[in-house]
Amino acid sequence: MTNKRQDRIEVCPDLAALSRRSAELFLIAAAAAIAKKGRFAVAISGGATPRLLYQLLASTEFRGRLAWEKLHIFWADERCVPPTAPESNYGAAYEILLSRVPLPAVNIHRIQGELPPVQAADAYEEELRRFFGEERLPVFDLILLGVGADGHTASLFPETLQAMASGRLAAPVYVARLNSHRVTLTLPVINSARRVLFLAAGKEKAPVVREIVEGKNTSYPAALVRPQGELIWLLDKEAAGNLTL
Ligand code: 6PG
Repeated sequence: MTNKRQDRIEVCPDLAALSRRSAELFLIAAAAAIAKKGRFAVAISGGATPRLLYQLLASTEFRGRLAWEKLHIFWADERCVPPTAPESNYGAAYEILLSRVPLPAVNIHRIQGELPPVQAADAYEEELRRFFGEERLPVFDLILLGVGADGHTASLFPETLQAMASGRLAAPVYVARLNSHRVTLTLPVINSARRVLFLAAGKEKAPVVREIVEGKNTSYPAALVRPQGELIWLLDKEAAGNLTL
């Protein structure tokens, strides 16, 4: 189904089904990008929801279906911690997925969370410019995002979004209530993507998913994600539980 904004909404019975479907969509997006340009640039997220997807991609069932040498993995956001810290988005993805697949190390474009936040954001911007070119905004083939119950996505939080310096590709963020320094892709970069896939599971996400998908709150950071390409919401039954579409 679609909503007024023409986002595509798919509801799966549970997290396992959602993860399988997202793995299929990942494969489809990769195949399309590789056929067209010979490479697939994807930005992935942290959080709990995509862990099963990452496990699936590393499984014997899926691993052989991806041309790993043509994949380039970036991050939508990172916590400013060393890669070995349990909070590191890179660290989690490395353990579950990246260390288990034949992805060349040079195709891993991580945010260096161990650096001071401004330096980490600057270094990531440089990496983005090197890969995508200086001239224009990076265009990811796919960005995988989650949404928090407070409407945040990547590390774009309601209370920090306004203060974000314009013109940046990646920005340092301090979230006081979480006492957490992070680096995030900015909205213009997210909105330049060819495809954005939101994954949301669990009943605690139902109110925020309804508010965003049904256009009841248009100021949440996640509601400001309006990519030039396709936007897909992949929900489990619980996260979709409040929808009246
Ligand atoms: C992070 C994220 C963040 C996440 C949401 C949803 O580093 O935490 O990238 O934006 O996607 O908080 O997280 P869950 O999947 O755990 O609900």
